[in-house]
Amino acid sequence: MSISAKIIGVGSSVPKKVITNHMLEDIMDTTDEWIRKRTGIEERRLVTEETATSMAIDASKQAIEHAKVKADDIDIIIGTTISSDYATPSIASLVQKGIGCKQAVVMDIAAGCTGFIYALATMVSLMDTMDLETGVIVSSENLSGRMNWEDRSTCILFGDGAGAIVVKRSKENKIKHPILTGIIDENDVLYIKNKRQNNPWSENQDWDDISLSMNGNDVFAFAVDAVEKTIKKLQEMMGDEKIDKIIPHQANSRIIRFAASSTDYKKDQFYVNVDKYANTSSATIPIALKEANDSGWLKKGDNVALVGFGAGLTYGGIVVKWAI
Ligand code: ACO
Repeated sequence: MSISAKIIGVGSSVPKKVITNHMLEDIMDTTDEWIRKRTGIEERRLVTEETATSMAIDASKQAIEHAKVKADDIDIIIGTTISSDYATPSIASLVQKGIGCKQAVVMDIAAGCTGFIYALATMVSLMDTMDLETGVIVSSENLSGRMNWEDRSTCILFGDGAGAIVVKRSKENKIKHPILTGIIDENDVLYIKNKRQNNPWSENQDWDDISLSMNGNDVFAFAVDAVEKTIKKLQEMMGDEKIDKIIPHQANSRIIRFAASSTDYKKDQFYVNVDKYANTSSATIPIALKEANDSGWLKKGDNVALVGFGAGLTYGGIVVKWAI
């Protein structure tokens, strides 16, 4: 399957506060060495005055400016987040207001850390079926607000940030081969609960723990398998055409290394920036796209495979011919 659309703008916004592994040593029983060895993470950005909404608006404005379009040209905004400031409205609606786009299709997609991949596949399909010209995908996460800071095996893995892209329908460039998968999380290895029943007649008047819960070892095994399978399937779907570069969800450099070693791709074909930002859930791929474009790592004409995995359990991928 091949869709007539291309990415024409990228933007990102991360909090200004840098928290190094050494700074974590001051507040919990951990070491820089333990974190680096198991995850590749050296530092992360955590919100102090920023919010998921402010970062989403900032990243979207940058992407719109980069794409040289106007806010009112946007026909569709899709947001992805697992840590929005609001249960409703969607972060897409908040961005619509923040950028001043009078009318558009606006919605969020909930697919955990795979959200950006699901959003891109959904956007290009809707562009086709609804005859829409220009869209924004914005992924923004304030994960530090959903961490249990007593759980050292989880809180060290995550960071905050946002990334956005502008997508435009096009004849010549294509976004190809979406793979969207969901499998049952039999053992509840990855979730964040919302607050539960709270009406005057309910038995549970207390609040549940609303921080992220993860069984790291099980998620690790799932993630390596998901990345391997997705890359192999994407290559199969590409046939003789080669995949030049891969931007995987930035959860952990070990996951990326393990998965890479079982494919035919070389280490330097994989983009890695988890050392600087840790895991920003659905925002890792658009943040990486912005950086990889700005640094020149991504070149016009490259076939880049985007590969995601996360809660659900969900995973998937898509190939983008880079057009900027
Ligand atoms: N610092 C020091 N020691 C720690 C820390 C820490 N921050 N956290 C745990 N430990 C200890 C444990 O208590 C344990 O000690 P024990 O042997 O005395 O009991 C020891 O380190 C080993 O613990 P393990 O959990 O077995 O450590 P492991 O080597 O498996 O690494 C990790 C844990 C890094 C979480 C790994 O499982 C992992 O990377 N999993 C994938 C997680 C992930 O990336 N999730 C996100 C993907 S989906 C999404 O993006 C939402």
